[in-house]
Amino acid sequence: MLKRSFWAGLLMLAPSFALAQDLPQRGPYLSTVSQNSIIVNWRTVTMDSSVVRYGLTTGYGNEEKNVTLTTAHSLTLTSLLPDTVYHYRVLFQGKQTPDYTFRTGVTSDTPFKFCVYGDTRTQADSHLAVVNRMVTFDPYFVLHTGDLVANGSDESQWAVYFATICSSATSAQRFPFYYAIGNHEGESPLYYSYFYLPHNNPDSTESYYSFDYGNSHFVSLDVQKPYGPSSAQYQWLRKDLVNAYNKTFVFVFMHDHPYCAGGHNSNLGIRDTLCPLFETFKVDMVFSGHSHFYQRNGPINGVTYIMAAGGGAPLYTPAESSWTKYAEKTYHFVDFTVWADSLKFKMVRTDGSIRDSLIYQAQNKSPLLLGDPNSDGAINVADIIYLVSYLFKGGPLPLPISESGDANCDGKVNVADIVYLVAYLFKGGPKPVC
Ligand SMILES: [Fe+2]
Repeated sequence: MLKRSFWAGLLMLAPSFALAQDLPQRGPYLSTVSQNSIIVNWRTVTMDSSVVRYGLTTGYGNEEKNVTLTTAHSLTLTSLLPDTVYHYRVLFQGKQTPDYTFRTGVTSDTPFKFCVYGDTRTQADSHLAVVNRMVTFDPYFVLHTGDLVANGSDESQWAVYFATICSSATSAQRFPFYYAIGNHEGESPLYYSYFYLPHNNPDSTESYYSFDYGNSHFVSLDVQKPYGPSSAQYQWLRKDLVNAYNKTFVFVFMHDHPYCAGGHNSNLGIRDTLCPLFETFKVDMVFSGHSHFYQRNGPINGVTYIMAAGGGAPLYTPAESSWTKYAEKTYHFVDFTVWADSLKFKMVRTDGSIRDSLIYQAQNKSPLLLGDPNSDGAINVADIIYLVSYLFKGGPLPLPISESGDANCDGKVNVADIVYLVAYLFKGGPKPVC
């Protein structure tokens, strides 16, 4: 095994020595990491095949390749080891990039780090100052709260954006960015062509999605698109939050904000529509952009709202509300370290000074099992009896939240759930699932 790896590595290395080191037109930049995979992307000026060499050392030993000629390159590396640092480089147009590293996703019992920032448009020098400081905190991935560029249809602005996040400080080459689309992207096709984000929703769109990382769940929403109760996004979100309920931490990020003092102020449509879902399903924190400052609001009905919008756009002056805990007009990002039952977050200015640093404890919540309204941890006849009692005899509401009785996951607790449970328990019907 050792011998084979050695010779395989040598064979991989041999042609690399002959290649000049250079950078492609954009990137390389990473997307969508899991415990066993990651996506490597780059752009070239002229048509080219796609080649990535990767491995546990700079000997690489593995190669992913697509011979189809393109200028928009994206390769998914698979069968990787969890929580492992890999070396990689891209081969393009007879040249090769420098060596870079990435880290695969951690398992649910392993601490991890991530950063949040947003509104990077307009002032590249301010954006670069934030990025240069952020890389020194070595995040495993980054959440971007939207408005990457001022005009999402202007290719020259994307050139500046990628030059900034792929600067010599090696940020996007080293850790993936996850985005919440902003109003300045304007649903531009360029946004969707550049990024390779999750699309785990019925519309298979990258504009809203979710992913697990470690012990946590992350949800990105597109509040430029319909999000009312009858919308596909709302229905998907409710089911997603049901399924994520038992995660230690649940984070949501989106561009606009339901609680904000100053700037664009609070979006009351989001507050009235989405905040009840966040509260019911015990979302821990909601990150937003759009109002260009840092502001921590709440917890409001259990949910903490953080404005992380000082990524480079011209700053606004924050105001204060009764629910505002800290606010500051400054370029910044927010650094998170997540442990088994707590996390620490801190707002970091571009000079490295830290403000608003706090330890946050995981919420104490009873496990949610669909179809288990009596909350005894099993789905059985006692749950049917419980639902009959609740619906017809004035019995207690299903606990810990009414969704535990919503066996068919349609958002209501009614006779259909009894029918669903009878089918599951006695007729081989499907298990309650969202
Ligand atoms: Fe915005």
